[in-house]
Amino acid sequence: MTPETWTAVDDYITGLLLPADPALDAAQDASRAAGLPPISVSAAQGKFLHLLARIQGARRILEIGTLGGYSTIWLARALPPGGRLITLEFDPKHAEVARVNIARAGLSDVVDVRVGPALDALPALAGDPPFDLVFIDADKPSTAAYFHWALALSRRGTVIVVDNAIRDGKVIDPQGDESAQGMHDFMAVLAAERRVSATAVQTVGVKGYDGFAIAVVDTPV
Ligand code: SAH
Ligand code: DHB
Ligand code: MG
Repeated sequence: MTPETWTAVDDYITGLLLPADPALDAAQDASRAAGLPPISVSAAQGKFLHLLARIQGARRILEIGTLGGYSTIWLARALPPGGRLITLEFDPKHAEVARVNIARAGLSDVVDVRVGPALDALPALAGDPPFDLVFIDADKPSTAAYFHWALALSRRGTVIVVDNAIRDGKVIDPQGDESAQGMHDFMAVLAAERRVSATAVQTVGVKGYDGFAIAVVDTPV
């Protein structure tokens, strides 16, 4: 099977199960128009994250890496009344595009976009109640560091999801690709972490060949 097949099947899945959605479609259009890189999760992946958050019954979600807020909107829509999502974004331009997209989706009161390096923002969350779900999708070399923070901000049963865990298969042999190396290093950390149950699942589709790592916290830090 070729990448063309993966895309055709993603289009098939999207056509069947993901009807046109004005707020999400506008978020992608506005992100593209503003020149943001086209690296958000796909529609099928966004809905997968949304379903995970609902299965989890998440009331507090942390996202690391906002971009234009596409995955943010999918995740925030899974929250019950009174639920909250905090999303961390380094680039002020991305954060501004995301704020507009989130407002258009009617989620400004639910989502808190915090601008700056995530590693600077994470310590400030330590006094807050734990998160029920954490989605890590920012600069790949920092993934292991973000995972440590996610654990520190967790309770028993918290779900941690990491995007781009496979990177075209380069995770097993990064060959100088610093993003793939970041995932390789993160996977070693995940393997050694006795406080979580974890796996990784390979995916293909409009975003090529990649995957998610998923962990449930058994023993909070
Ligand atoms: N989750 C988004 C995609 C995120 S792309 C979606 O699926 O819709 C990765 C984002 O991480 C980019 O916007 C990038 O600016 C941001 N980023 C990179 N380094 C960062 C850092 N140190 N702290 C926070 N965000 C960072
Ligand atoms: C890139 C980043 C992502 O988060 C992603 O899902 C795909 C690609 C990138 O930086 O190339
Ligand atoms: Mg990603």
